Amino acid sequence: MRPPLLHGEMMRLRPMVAGDADRLWESLHDPEGMRLSGTTARFTRTQIDEWAATVGDREGRYDWAITPGAVRDGELVSDEMIGEIVLNELDDVSRSANLRLQMLPDYRGRGYGREAIEQVLTFAFLGVPDDPGPRLHRVGLDVLSINPRAKALYASLGFVEEGRLREVYRDGGTWADAIVMSVLEDEFRDHQGRAG
Ligand SMILES: CC(C)(COP(=O)(O)OP(=O)(O)OC[C@H]1O[C@@H](n2cnc3c(N)ncnc32)[C@H](O)[C@@H]1OP(=O)(O)O)[C@@H](O)C(=O)NCCC(=O)NCCS
Repeated sequence: MRPPLLHGEMMRLRPMVAGDADRLWESLHDPEGMRLSGTTARFTRTQIDEWAATVGDREGRYDWAITPGAVRDGELVSDEMIGEIVLNELDDVSRSANLRLQMLPDYRGRGYGREAIEQVLTFAFLGVPDDPGPRLHRVGLDVLSINPRAKALYASLGFVEEGRLREVYRDGGTWADAIVMSVLEDEFRDHQGRAG
């Protein structure tokens, strides 16, 4: 589905395009990111090129590239992808979806992830002026037990822990749990109200 442009204070979200393939490829070769997100699938460069070129229009999902929001002389300083954020597994009947995101290594811990999630949840639950959005009831995600910083970020944005898939992930010589979290539309509204 064609995602709308979304603007935060420090970043902008735009549909992913063919030109993002280099950055996606980089992201798939980032050992920390792969470990913390539990990504084990391997892709060829051809698959990534095709994915980047077509994902912006695929049904049942919205794929955004996160780009810096800095403006100089009325123009964006850069349109380069610095991370990605995805709403996938969209279900029209239950009005639910899954969220995932990953920042490129140089752009972590600077507040981009928090802002990207806030923008996507606003679109997902409430819509934006030019696009009513999917009007979701629930947005869920999985976060690994080896990733407490990401879990704390999600909790601070209103996500609630629902349970665990125990020892579902192999982390080197040990096992890790996947923690299932979600935020419901009313919880998000309450959180928005408290935040601002
Ligand atoms: C998890 C992730 C998407 C968060 O995005 P981010 O832009 O780094 O997060 P923010 O800068 O908005 O930080 C949010 C909070 O988490 C902390 N944090 C989260 N991940 C961090 C990281 N890798 N390095 C440093 N700080 C991190 C920040 O200090 C901040 O805490 P605060 O608001 O109390 O100061 C990003 O760090 C990332 O891509 N990590 C690697 C892959 C991953 O874990 N993906 C998520 C799988 S569920």
